[in-house]
Amino acid sequence: MTRDLTIRPMLATDGPTVLALYQAGLDGGNASFETAAPSWEAFDAGRLAGHRHIAAGVDGAVLGWVAVTPVSSRPVYAGVVEHSLYVDPAAQGRGVGRALLAALIRSTEAAGIWTIQSGVFPENEASLALHRSCGFRTVGIRERVARHAARENRWRDVVFLERRSPVVA
Ligand SMILES: CC(C)(COP(=O)(O)OP(=O)(O)OC[C@H]1O[C@@H](n2cnc3c(N)ncnc32)[C@H](O)[C@@H]1OP(=O)(O)O)[C@@H](O)C(=O)NCCC(=O)NCCS
Repeated sequence: MTRDLTIRPMLATDGPTVLALYQAGLDGGNASFETAAPSWEAFDAGRLAGHRHIAAGVDGAVLGWVAVTPVSSRPVYAGVVEHSLYVDPAAQGRGVGRALLAALIRSTEAAGIWTIQSGVFPENEASLALHRSCGFRTVGIRERVARHAARENRWRDVVFLERRSPVVA
């Protein structure tokens, strides 16, 4: 599968597909506390240019995406970002997520970004396995940190992960 994948920059014309895959991930109930994907304008305003990648199949179809937001406006944290990673449900389990995360690690390290962080629900076994195999460690588990409207409004734990780049010094 990965041999047939292309990783390329996300374009504004990808917006509708990116947001549809985002919504499909949210609808799965284990990706995020959010229940609705943002508008393209809000998505575009919040994500760093240069670290938005698309995985496309041989036919050009968008199979997934990854993007990052800065975690703070404080200059000392300029190299710390939080990422979102969404793969088309029909294309999961075939290496798309791994290829996107690898591309993100490459682009962020090349830009001097030293830490990528993410919050993952403990039930999201695919995401936890993928991140751990790409060098993320568990910082801790945030207990009952927020209510999830899409899951009977129940309190949910979040596993807080980070990858400190070994090459950005
Ligand atoms: C989580 C997600 C991004 C993973 O992407 P993917 O393309 O399905 O993952 P990959 O095929 O690249 O798998 C990478 C690794 O994860 C592991 N993995 C994948 N699916 C798994 C599963 N269901 N259970 C356990 N491990 C799994 C495998 O160990 C695999 O490693 P391998 O290459 O050594 O076999 C994808 O399932 C997704 O988009 N889910 C919905 C949205 C979401 O949850 N996003 C993440 C929010 S934190």
